[in-house]
Amino acid sequence: MPKKTKTIYMCSNCGEDFPKWQGHCQHCGQWDTISEFKQPRLKQGTSRVSQLQSDSQEIVDLSSCKPSAISRNSCGFPEVDRVLGGGIVPGSLVLVGGNPGIGKSTLLLHIAGFATANNLSVLYVSGEESLEQLSLRSKRLGLSKVPINVFTETATEPILNTIDTLKPSIVIIDSIQTIFSEELESAPGSVSQVRDCTAILMKYAKHSQTALFLIGHVTKDGAIAGPRVLEHMVDTVLYFEGDSSYQYRILRTVKNRFGPSGEIALLAMSDRGLEEVKNASEFFLMHRDTPQVGTAIVPILEGSRILVVELQSLVNPTHFGLPQRVASGINPKKLSLLIAVLERYTGVSLGDHDIFFNITGGLTVSEPAIDVSIAAALLSSFRNTPIRNGLAFIGELGLGGEIRPVNNMTLRLKELEGMGFKECVVPRPKKQNDWISPHMNIQLITCENIKYLGDILF
Ligand code: TYD
Ligand code: MG
Repeated sequence: MPKKTKTIYMCSNCGEDFPKWQGHCQHCGQWDTISEFKQPRLKQGTSRVSQLQSDSQEIVDLSSCKPSAISRNSCGFPEVDRVLGGGIVPGSLVLVGGNPGIGKSTLLLHIAGFATANNLSVLYVSGEESLEQLSLRSKRLGLSKVPINVFTETATEPILNTIDTLKPSIVIIDSIQTIFSEELESAPGSVSQVRDCTAILMKYAKHSQTALFLIGHVTKDGAIAGPRVLEHMVDTVLYFEGDSSYQYRILRTVKNRFGPSGEIALLAMSDRGLEEVKNASEFFLMHRDTPQVGTAIVPILEGSRILVVELQSLVNPTHFGLPQRVASGINPKKLSLLIAVLERYTGVSLGDHDIFFNITGGLTVSEPAIDVSIAAALLSSFRNTPIRNGLAFIGELGLGGEIRPVNNMTLRLKELEGMGFKECVVPRPKKQNDWISPHMNIQLITCENIKYLGDILF
């Protein structure tokens, strides 16, 4: 008698499977996310996947293959097109992940509306919201007159039948965690359902050259499979980031088979949906013209885009107990390390001071290019003297106090110059005028070691 089901243990965060149950996933490091799954063995030839798999394929010589030029469709936001690598590619599978409530459904309804208005056929499959909710949202987005095809269904089979008859160019699945296949026994949202439904939809998308957008919620508990389970299957992975207490949202490419990864688009949530932020590089600058104590400015690189951001620190004498070290936007260990380097090479003593650090706008930065600006912000607050107007900082700090160059120095300096900055503290270049051309109107102040930073600043 052949066995009907197979038992496996799978992590709902990363999708890794194990032969036995364990409390800790060795693959992604999460606790209590592994649970038992009974995978039914499907009868050969009954499922849609096996039907599609049975289509015979020939072996071809790769050099004889002439790829046709991809005609991409715009999604209505030039920034999002850029993040996608130049627009929506027919037959591609795009996963849009993010925390619940960040704006995934809003973004995709915008895209559905734009594509429909531009004579592309779109099918928006919603397994989460009712028609009333969707129509209310479309009114808010100004899409009440656009005839978007909406289908509120959660079973894969009717969805595939509808796609078969409608033959849309773009299908949006909101969300993949609500979709289930009747051929599988496990509950909707479980790893096996999410994976198998995606596999079925992917085969369809590739066959019919339909662009497929899947929404996936990032989940904290292990009951629902997170979008990471699908990352290896899809062509493009976009993550929606941002703090719900701020208006802005960052859409970041984590993986892209049709363009560079690491690109970001800056969007802002308003009462009429999402809008593009036009002057993204200046968006995080708040007190440019009035120098403030403890504030330093640095250009950071996000994908191919430079954002000029403001760092703030507050250094106060400790009145009680152990000195506090509170960092938001950077790794607290990095702050401790920079404080140690600063104490050693600049002679300041911070052991009896509380230190608070923040990046304005709620951004998180892990680039080493911000090291020197963190040190400058700390020194400024410690000496209670503001850093002069129009001065920015670029450089990585070594444990010997040396300041090292970072990647894309020229791009960063160009952006600063374009925004009207007059001076920038930089490491020593290998050759003179390595990073700037003579006609660039920004003065470089070379600083080889952190011990000279105080002399430059005050
Ligand atoms: P939503 O797209 O439903 O999030 P997700 O699909 O990622 O769960 O966005 C929900 C949030 O966005 C909600 O808190 C309300 C807010 N929002 C606006 O501020 N303005 C708008 O025009 C819309 C449609 C939503
Ligand atoms: Mg939603």
